[in-house]
Amino acid sequence: MTSFVDAAREALALGKKLRHHAHLYYVLDAPEMPDAEYDRMFQRLQALETEFPELETPDSPTRRVGGKALEGFTKVRHKVPMLSIRTETDITAGGASAFDARVRRELGLAEDAPPVGYVCELKFDGLAINLRYEQGVLVQAATRGDGEVGEDVTHNIRMLRQIPLRLHGDAVPPVVEVRGEVYMRRDQFEALNERQREKIAAGQKNEKVFVNPRNAAAGAVRQLDPAVAAHRPLSFFAYGLGEVSAPEDGGPDCPTQFDWLQQFLAWGFPVATQTRRASGAEELVAFHEAMGQQRDTLPYDIDGVVYKVDSVALQRQLGFISREPRWAVAHKYPAQEQLTEVLAIEVQVGRTGKLTPVAKLAPVFVGGVTVTNATLHNEDEARRKDVRVGDTVIVRRAGDVIPEVVGVVPDSLAKPDDQRGPVFTMPRKCPVCGSDALREEGEVDYRCTGGLFCGAQRKEAILHFAARRAVDVDGLGDKLVEQLVDANLIRTLPDLYKLGFTTLVGLERMADKSAANLVEALEKSKKTTLPRFLFGLGIRHIGESTAKDLAKHFGKLDAIMDATEEQLLEVNDVGPVVATSLRTFFDQPHNREVVEQLRACGLTWEEGEPAARAPKPLAGKTFVITGTLPALSRDDAKDMLEAAGAKVAGSVSKKTDYVVAGAEAGSKLEKAITLGVTVIDEAAMLALIENGV
Ligand code: IVH
Repeated sequence: MTSFVDAAREALALGKKLRHHAHLYYVLDAPEMPDAEYDRMFQRLQALETEFPELETPDSPTRRVGGKALEGFTKVRHKVPMLSIRTETDITAGGASAFDARVRRELGLAEDAPPVGYVCELKFDGLAINLRYEQGVLVQAATRGDGEVGEDVTHNIRMLRQIPLRLHGDAVPPVVEVRGEVYMRRDQFEALNERQREKIAAGQKNEKVFVNPRNAAAGAVRQLDPAVAAHRPLSFFAYGLGEVSAPEDGGPDCPTQFDWLQQFLAWGFPVATQTRRASGAEELVAFHEAMGQQRDTLPYDIDGVVYKVDSVALQRQLGFISREPRWAVAHKYPAQEQLTEVLAIEVQVGRTGKLTPVAKLAPVFVGGVTVTNATLHNEDEARRKDVRVGDTVIVRRAGDVIPEVVGVVPDSLAKPDDQRGPVFTMPRKCPVCGSDALREEGEVDYRCTGGLFCGAQRKEAILHFAARRAVDVDGLGDKLVEQLVDANLIRTLPDLYKLGFTTLVGLERMADKSAANLVEALEKSKKTTLPRFLFGLGIRHIGESTAKDLAKHFGKLDAIMDATEEQLLEVNDVGPVVATSLRTFFDQPHNREVVEQLRACGLTWEEGEPAARAPKPLAGKTFVITGTLPALSRDDAKDMLEAAGAKVAGSVSKKTDYVVAGAEAGSKLEKAITLGVTVIDEAAMLALIENGV
């Protein structure tokens, strides 16, 4: 049994170490200790606190783990109101100058007085929180609420690793309230939504997908169950102050906002590294521009920048008008999300044949440009979001990213079904060329199978065909293909071989020599090999090695084009996905026409005889292996069965032909017996492989 004194000493030391390493890990992103070691210390501290409950302090790292769910939130009256900040709506450079001019006027500065010193900060898009520390210990966290009265969310805020439960360092005032923004990083937001989607897919009705990081962060902070909140990853930046002890009462003496930010850092809070001192309007404008450039590369959302008069004395002098300080202003960026109406849903075909549903929108200014199209990604997404024609939707455009429909507003979703447009379904024919559109198992995208003919895939098809590893047309690169297709000189592959010297020379930036070289390269490419030709057709899933296997197995192109899926499956490494892909490709009349035309253009290769068939004694039979076999590993047994043409499945069903059972076979064996499936041992399996059924 540990003595209380020893336990207290150990708990103190552990608490200190854990706090230090948590800060390194969560705030500085520079861990110095493996997670397992951290966990070990953490558990030891928990054990000590269980044995001696007196040791459990409010700032103990163990308090970060979720407690009981709360009934509701307690109201908190802020000691110092949480004000809002004036927004400069003039988004041109004039915004910063107008602010600077106003500050100078209100301070009564002469024209030739030196520039005013400012601090430039990011305007984080999360929610403001007030953190109250007494004697350095976090005693309360409250939301902004209406600025006067907020909600007590201490239980959830304790879960945030980036918020110290005890202020670091020795300069700890009797009272201080640190204010800042709780936010969610974009990657963590995406990951959270991914988990939410999985939950919804698994039938959990109460779960929802969050529209943006701010919304997710706000939801997490106001979550009544701390255990749930603990799984919503949140971050924090400090930027302001509430009540604080005066310097004569032991409070820090910080004459500027910049000094305060340094103090926050020293206490263990994250402060954005982008924060800068600036003097005069021009430097403010420069900051606004620089951050505007960086905006999309930051790991979190910002909706603008904030300028603050640096000197605390000048801040006091400037004071407040209504509920806004005169010493600070927010200079916003164009909003990245807006509402608009869906006019139509169209399907676009990409260069590689991917079909993407696109919402046609009533024009809306978002993220700095007018948007009329937004991607719905794929059929599943379009249905999950339940976007229909006539709906009002939230459109998001961040940086160079393609605008997307985030979701439908509740008002539209709430309309009766017959007052909304039809549920979106993906067309089964390519809207560009009319070929079959196919969605492979396990894939989210539909693809056009008319690769050789489809207008959308033209450039890609030509480039692929001409590639070095395909028929190898030397000198036919993407720029030239672009030029030829855009000039309508090539529509499908055979057009390539109709290009003459005169046509080529007529092209912009095309010298005589290059044109002659290309004509020669085209001529040369006509004599090729079957694998190169086959690979060059750009059939989905047919890489170089599969093309070689196919050529070897069938010998002739016609044999490949006419092979059934079953026959294709006999080829080495050809599985159902590849077989279906080949079959569908050659089922498209347009693709066949292109192949014929290419042959007519003089493309030739040597054809061979089909390879002698390796005997496949177990073709068409399905096996399940269960238990431990005496000699073979399960993987080896599986390989041998598959080499003999059998399919090896993971579970027993009526379609199973044989169950191979070894020692300690369990439920699969029982199921086989129930279903009356033949059960054999390893020796019998080897005999079947040897002699067939
Ligand atoms: S200072 C008295 N600084 O913007 C000034 N606010 O309308 C108080 N915000 O509710 C705010 N980043 O949620 C300040 N660097 C920053 C900020 C910031 C984001 C938010 C905050 C506040 C709102 C102001």
